[in-house]
Amino acid sequence: MADSSSSRDLRPDLDETINVPEAHAALSSGAPAVEREKSLRENGMEPVTLWLIMVSAVIVLAGGAVMGQGGAFFGYDELVKEGYMRGKSKFGPELPPIPIPALAFLRKEGGKVYSTCNGCHQASGAGQPGSIPPLAGSEWVNGNTEKLLLIIHNGIQGPIEVAGITYSSQMEPMGANYGPKEMAAVMTYIRTSWGNTGDLVSPEMAANGLEISKQRGGGKASSEELKKSHDKMLTGDNWSPDTLIDPETWEPVATEE
Ligand code: HEC
Repeated sequence: MADSSSSRDLRPDLDETINVPEAHAALSSGAPAVEREKSLRENGMEPVTLWLIMVSAVIVLAGGAVMGQGGAFFGYDELVKEGYMRGKSKFGPELPPIPIPALAFLRKEGGKVYSTCNGCHQASGAGQPGSIPPLAGSEWVNGNTEKLLLIIHNGIQGPIEVAGITYSSQMEPMGANYGPKEMAAVMTYIRTSWGNTGDLVSPEMAANGLEISKQRGGGKASSEELKKSHDKMLTGDNWSPDTLIDPETWEPVATEE
């Protein structure tokens, strides 16, 4: 282009010698050619209007606020009649607790209570040789329930013979805060674990036993006293092992017959 006037060159003009932006910059700004160049864009690359960006931002912010409210903006609470109560589901927590056979239930509860005993008598019921008598195979555990309740509730001291071995130690009262339920449960648990052959003890029987303990007065029992005055079965209605028990009320479930 630059020298096209002097000689006619037939080669295609590949060398652009004029720098267009520079040339335009040299023109005074405001010149129409300069303004035109600024506003020209390639197709599809035109700038987005600022309004659109601002409207989008408002929508995004509002959306975030709705989510932050947990959808409460669009709740239908005000459309619901006053005093309306949701119907109770036939399923789920409203279902009455499933009854459990008495033996399984008392063993389950008794296992929890037994966690206060197993530090000494061991989870296996074997006790500790020489110092703590075993509950497994013990005639005190398998035998009459009145003396067993007094051992647990009042504690025991002095020599006591268990499975042919005499222990001369003492045990503090264990059941100070056991009600008839806990007492029945732990007694049933130890009488039916580790190959023991005792039957179960109902809360009613345990309540009668606690009454006997009250009349007897405080103080630890001795094996002599127990053999002399308390070698009896507790009175009261017992549950048969498969009586169905409501685990919430600890009452036998009425069965329709
Ligand atoms: C701190 C240790 C200790 C704890 C805890 C303990 N006992 Fe004992 N228990 C003993 C000792 C020691 C004797 C023997 C007492 C004696 O020599 O007169 C004993 C004796 C007994 C006996 C009579 C003897 C026998 O082996 O049959 C029974 C039954 C018994 N405990 C049940 C329980 C129950 C049930 C619990 C939990 C509620 C319990 N013990 C918690 C230490 C403990």
